[in-house]
Amino acid sequence: MAQPSPTHATAATPRHIAIIMDGNGRWARQRARPRTFGHAEGVEALRRTVEAAGELGVGYLTVFGFSTENWRRPVEEVNALFDLLRLYVVRDLDRLAREGVRVRVIGDRANLQKDILEIIDRAESRTRANDKLNLTIAFNYGGQDEIARAARRAAEEVKAGKIVPEDITAQSFARYLDTAELPPPDLLVRTSGESRLSNFMLWQAAYAELVFVDRLWPDFDKNALQAAIEVYGRRERRYGGSDPAS
Ligand code: IPE
Ligand code: IPE
Ligand code: MG
Repeated sequence: MAQPSPTHATAATPRHIAIIMDGNGRWARQRARPRTFGHAEGVEALRRTVEAAGELGVGYLTVFGFSTENWRRPVEEVNALFDLLRLYVVRDLDRLAREGVRVRVIGDRANLQKDILEIIDRAESRTRANDKLNLTIAFNYGGQDEIARAARRAAEEVKAGKIVPEDITAQSFARYLDTAELPPPDLLVRTSGESRLSNFMLWQAAYAELVFVDRLWPDFDKNALQAAIEVYGRRERRYGGSDPAS
C-alpha cells in the first residue's frame, strides 16, 4: 500500500476550510462549451482540492455542491449536477475510504431520489471510522433551510417534553444543525470573483475569515488553496474582543 503523504499543518493552517465552488458555467462559456462541461471539469478541481487539503494537513473540508436555490436552473443542468454527485461519490469512494477520508453530506434529504440517498448512506457508513480528512459535501443545502429544519427539530423536542424553550441557546442550538459534528469553518473561500455567501453556512460562518478568489472553480488547484491559506494566515481573528496592542 502507498505510504500516506506527509501532512504539513502549521499554526496558520485552518482546521476547517469551506469552499463555495463557483464559476463552472463561466469557465465553460469562455471555451464556447455547454455549462455541464464546466461542471464536469469542476469535479476534477474538487479531486485536486481534496488531495491538496489532505497534503496540507487540513482536518475539515466542506464544499458547496448544490444549493436549495440551484433548482431554479434548467432541468438538464440540475440533472447533470446530480449525475456528477453520483459519479464522484461512486467512482472515488474506494480511494477516499483507503486514504482515510471521512465523507459526510449535509443539506435537505427530504426530496432526494432514492438512489442518491443510497449513495450518500453508503459513502457515510463506509468511511465512518476515518479521520485523516473530514470531507463534507453540501448538497441540496441552504443555510436558511438548515436553520429552519434545526428549529423544527428543537420545537419537536419541546413538544415531546424532552427540553424546555429556555434550553435553546446559541450554543445548544448548534447540535440541531446538519453540521453538529463539525467545528465551525475558520476559512471560507469563494472562487470566481463573486463576493457573497449565496446561503452557504450562514450560522457556522459567523467568525470565518472570508477569502474571495478571482479564479474560476475548474482552474482551482493546490497553489490556489495554499494562497488562500496564506491570506488567512495574515488575518487577525478577534471574535469580538479587542486587539491588546491598540
Ligand atoms: C458553480 O458554478 C457550480 C454550481 C453552482 C453547482 P456555476 O454553475 O454557478 O458557474 P457560474 O457561476 O454560472 O459561472
Ligand atoms: C452557489 O453558487 C452554489 C454553489 C456553488 C453550489 P451560485 O452560482 O448558485 O450562486 P449565485 O446564484 O451566483 O449567488
Ligand atoms: Mg455561480
